[in-house]
Amino acid sequence: MYRSRPTGNLDSKALSYLSSITEDSDLFYYDLLGSQAHVIMLHESNILSKKETIEILKAIGRLMSNSAALNEYAADSTAEDIHEMIESAVINITTMNVGGKIHTARSRNDQVVLDIRMKLRDDLNRISSNLLGLIHSLLSRAKENIETIMPMYTHLQQAQLGVLSHYLLSYCFSLLRNFERFSENYKRINVSPLGACAIGGSSMGIDRNKVASMLGFSDIVYNSVDATTSRDFLVEFSSNSLNTMLDLCRISEDFIIWSTSEFGFISLDDQFSSSSSAMPQKKNPDPLELIRGKTAMMEGNLVAISSIIKGLSSGYSRDLQEIKPLLWKTSSTLETSIEIMNGIVSTISVDQDKMYAASAKSYAISLDIAEQLITEGDISFRLSHKVIGTIVDYASRNGNVPLNSLTVSDITNSLKKIDFSHEILTPEKILNLIKLTTPENSIKFRKTKGSPNKNEQQIMIDHIEKIIFDYEKELELRSNKLQLGMDQLDKKINQLINESS
Ligand code: ARG
Repeated sequence: MYRSRPTGNLDSKALSYLSSITEDSDLFYYDLLGSQAHVIMLHESNILSKKETIEILKAIGRLMSNSAALNEYAADSTAEDIHEMIESAVINITTMNVGGKIHTARSRNDQVVLDIRMKLRDDLNRISSNLLGLIHSLLSRAKENIETIMPMYTHLQQAQLGVLSHYLLSYCFSLLRNFERFSENYKRINVSPLGACAIGGSSMGIDRNKVASMLGFSDIVYNSVDATTSRDFLVEFSSNSLNTMLDLCRISEDFIIWSTSEFGFISLDDQFSSSSSAMPQKKNPDPLELIRGKTAMMEGNLVAISSIIKGLSSGYSRDLQEIKPLLWKTSSTLETSIEIMNGIVSTISVDQDKMYAASAKSYAISLDIAEQLITEGDISFRLSHKVIGTIVDYASRNGNVPLNSLTVSDITNSLKKIDFSHEILTPEKILNLIKLTTPENSIKFRKTKGSPNKNEQQIMIDHIEKIIFDYEKELELRSNKLQLGMDQLDKKINQLINESS
């Protein structure tokens, strides 16, 4: 339909090579929405008559309520994309004289990026709301586990003792930062490029702000070159998606390790476990492994998307079309991964006894004891580190006994190695301090801000609860504003159509 200068049809292989029809199906609804606003604005700018506008709106309405009609009416099978297909359907439903006016003061270059922005802002709003749902579930599991003592790991070796809520709250904080990133991103997505036309605007006296407001945008992308060229908002979306997936990956990895028979700290609900074709005993954490696996694809998509943009000159180039399927995949994968993770978090069962047993025999208590020695004996941290390190070495060489099972003579013998003698920190005193440092006291004594201490857990829970509340309000406000624009559009369409009947 667009072939005014080139004669004849495109070579059929070239056409299918060029075509973006498949990935454009996700844009169908948005393209119609954008077209409705565009023709109403053309009418209000005295470019289309009322009669023409109504005819076009009716044709669009027909396509909107029955997407199958598109194929029927877009008899022109040479359409390269959804924009061409919809325009040809509108022309076929109306006439060339009427439908042929729909593309006045518009180009596919501003149209495609308008559609992408509209789809992405809806995706982003769903993703943000799902993110809050997941954070909410993590928070309620955290509340149940403020006193669930467990070892904490660095290098995947037992490091210090902590509580399960502490890990779960750390996931909340990290995911909340991604929510913030998406909110920032939303501001840059929710601006309208329409009216920039091919690259340099139009002489037709259109009102760019009017279309923007009917479509719920907060503003327009002012510069027409910028409006048709820039894709930074979607690189940002892809990077935010990857960041979020990396969080889900870390949670997955923690859960996978904690659910092994060797750890046995948690167990996945059967709904979220796979089995083995061969080994009847198996209960595998496949959904968690797939979150990890799919993150690789999202990483690849970010690189691919930015590589498509890299090296392009200003103005639309067809390379940009290749971004769409990658973007859709990124967005839908993120959305479902968050949902799956929410299901897993909500149903996981926690074996508090196993966690406690691992903590009770763990040398992860060592730093706490070393700090007791500093306070009681007024010695340097380095010396205290040496003393406790030597005692731990002795205990582990003598059958891996827990520190609180050592005797005074064990302490005396081990300290001979470093010639440690101190008037307050006698072997008896050191053993007392070791016995005083129970797992419960280890947590109680650690009072630094943000530590596993019970009060600190409560402070973090209250803080997160408040942020969730604020973010929920922010989301509601955002969707209300969008709805306001859409209502304005609906009202105008209904008014025009009702007047005609
Ligand atoms: N199908 C194209 C895309 O998805 C639409 C824009 C085409 N514009 C052009 N001037 N060839 O990017």
